[in-house]
Amino acid sequence: MKTTSRMNLEPKPSASAETVKVLTATDLHLKRSLYGELRTAVEQHRPDVICLVGDFLDAEDLPPSNERLTPTGAALALAALPCEIVLARGNHEDYENWPEFEAAWQTTGRTLNALHCSAVKFGQLVIIGFPCGLGDDSAWSAGREPTSHDPEEWMSDLLRTTGPAGRALWLMHEPPSRELAAYEACDPDWFNVIELYQPLLTVSGHDHSTPLKTGRWRTKIGDTVAVNAGQRVEPRKAAAGPLIYCTAEFKFLNGRPRLAVPVKRHGA
Ligand SMILES: [Fe+2]
Repeated sequence: MKTTSRMNLEPKPSASAETVKVLTATDLHLKRSLYGELRTAVEQHRPDVICLVGDFLDAEDLPPSNERLTPTGAALALAALPCEIVLARGNHEDYENWPEFEAAWQTTGRTLNALHCSAVKFGQLVIIGFPCGLGDDSAWSAGREPTSHDPEEWMSDLLRTTGPAGRALWLMHEPPSRELAAYEACDPDWFNVIELYQPLLTVSGHDHSTPLKTGRWRTKIGDTVAVNAGQRVEPRKAAAGPLIYCTAEFKFLNGRPRLAVPVKRHGA
């Protein structure tokens, strides 16, 4: 099986050299309806890349049902989508569900872009995936460096390999700012590294309820646009949807990325 490494930055042929369209969602929690709506969104927007920013699986010990996929079902549903898939870990991807997902993905023959303090490149777009400081990441990060989640341990080295292109799209399950989530759901280290390097766009989830209470799903950290694309339901509730997701379009000038149009949130 091919798994994305820190240095796997060879351009993929599927994305246009000039424009890369991205669709991001978080917190699908194995909800069958949300995975179905994701396919519909892909058919509508035809992105080059989908980024799922954690909790696409679920650590809750609930049986598969009409409302709930297995990790195998989720892997096969995602692998069947006609675009690249990039995954960042949330607190619900753990040793109980990730190995099953990974094994099912292996049967599809597709590259597994499961980022861990690492980057992947599609066309000219570089996407960086953060770790998640919550839950057990031993299965996700097995055999991969660094073992520390502190961005001071890995971000500067990673950006040396990417150059300015690495300051485009960062995926982090825990939101970086209290503007987007409750205090206890945020990771202040993420805020600090965003403030320092100023990527164009960060996408988070994890806190499902705060953006719905406040109406605030987007903020600025310096020049960075930071969004919370979390869903409106909690994992154990049966009802879900409509799917909340964001679309973004990146263009490039002399290799430097820029957002071609404002990031748009759908389904809220
Ligand atoms: Fe979460």
